[in-house]
Amino acid sequence: MRQANRYPSVDHLHRAAKKRLPKFSYDYVDGGTGPEVGKNLNRSAIEAIKMAPRYVVERKPINMKTELFGRTYAKPFGIAPMGLASLQWPNAELHFARAGKAADIPVTLSTACTVDIEQFAAAGGDNAWYQLYPPKDEEVNDDLIKRAQDSGCKALMVTVDVPARGWRPRDMYNGLAVPPRISAATIWNAAMRPHWSLATLASGFPHFKTLGKYAPDKSMRGMANFVSEQLGQPTSIDRLKRIRDKWKGDLIIKGVMHPDDATAAIDLGYNGILVSNHGGRQLDAAPSSIEVLPEIVDVVGDRATVMVDSGFSNGLDVMKALALGADFVFCGRAFMWGLGAMGPSGPGHVADMLASELELQMIQLGVSDIAELDRSWITGGGREWPNN
Ligand SMILES: Cc1cc2nc3c(=O)[nH]c(=O)nc-3n(C[C@H](O)[C@H](O)[C@H](O)COP(=O)(O)O)c2cc1C
Repeated sequence: MRQANRYPSVDHLHRAAKKRLPKFSYDYVDGGTGPEVGKNLNRSAIEAIKMAPRYVVERKPINMKTELFGRTYAKPFGIAPMGLASLQWPNAELHFARAGKAADIPVTLSTACTVDIEQFAAAGGDNAWYQLYPPKDEEVNDDLIKRAQDSGCKALMVTVDVPARGWRPRDMYNGLAVPPRISAATIWNAAMRPHWSLATLASGFPHFKTLGKYAPDKSMRGMANFVSEQLGQPTSIDRLKRIRDKWKGDLIIKGVMHPDDATAAIDLGYNGILVSNHGGRQLDAAPSSIEVLPEIVDVVGDRATVMVDSGFSNGLDVMKALALGADFVFCGRAFMWGLGAMGPSGPGHVADMLASELELQMIQLGVSDIAELDRSWITGGGREWPNN
């Protein structure tokens, strides 16, 4: 069976990944914070949006090319940063980077990554971006920025929505840890998933390669302790300014859910706003990002580029976000499920699938170019959306 038919949706990949991954690894990706109301809301809020098609329209060839920070990308979506990605498949971030390059979409490396920035940037080329969780130590902060800049990452995303670690009951229950805690349950779990276990055994259990470099103790535990000491704290305004001074290119703030944060970041010189609730992994009471998107788009106007993530997992979702004013959409778990289900070829399949879905949905709706998408296409959905 052709892969596209075997996995014709992210839901199919999700189900297959669940069967192939050990429980702790699956739960790490799938889980949200607390009772996961926020994670589920991300999906239901997107699903509630309705669009009325128009069929009596002039048709032109479909165009989904998108200009973002002065560069044209082939599609209006990209790969969000995800830490500890190699828990799904060895060298996950390099597979994301190659898929991003092949599909010509941005692909972002997390600070909590399991490969070197330099390796990632070489694999992703012109499509590689870097995400910074500002570490406690300023020198580490500055060196990470320098490494991302020197290795050619095109944009820097500063994530502010992890002022403390997320309360993630599934990870706590599973005893998720680096290095792994060896218990009867871990061994049983791994034994039941031989495909994953053999691949992971062959390349070694993942660790924090980029950040581990700065740890005084280079054992796996030493590096993991260092990472947890350095990350998971509030980002001060001074630090946001310092990052603006150090990073010479396009600078995005990630985790914006309130118009005031968007305005404050623009005043500090940030030119990209990523509306995100971290995929429902930080504050369970947060609204869905699609709900707050229109308000933030209106406040920002043309002062910055507005992007969105959290819950987007098919081409139709992307089309809805663009119609509500987003310039671009990022997807996280969708790409992880591709990797978990299919291995290295999975992220490329997800990129192709989202693009094909988007193309068909544009034809269904009656638009030829993503530039034609605006709020006039949105109808009902239990909420009045203001027109452009
Ligand atoms: C397993 C996992 C790890 C993540 N790690 C990071 C990270 O290291 N840095 C970051 O800024 N966001 C991280 N995120 C959040 C994503 O960048 C993104 O905001 C979120 O996944 C979007 O929601 P979606 O998964 O529903 O698409 C992570 C998300 C997941 C699922």
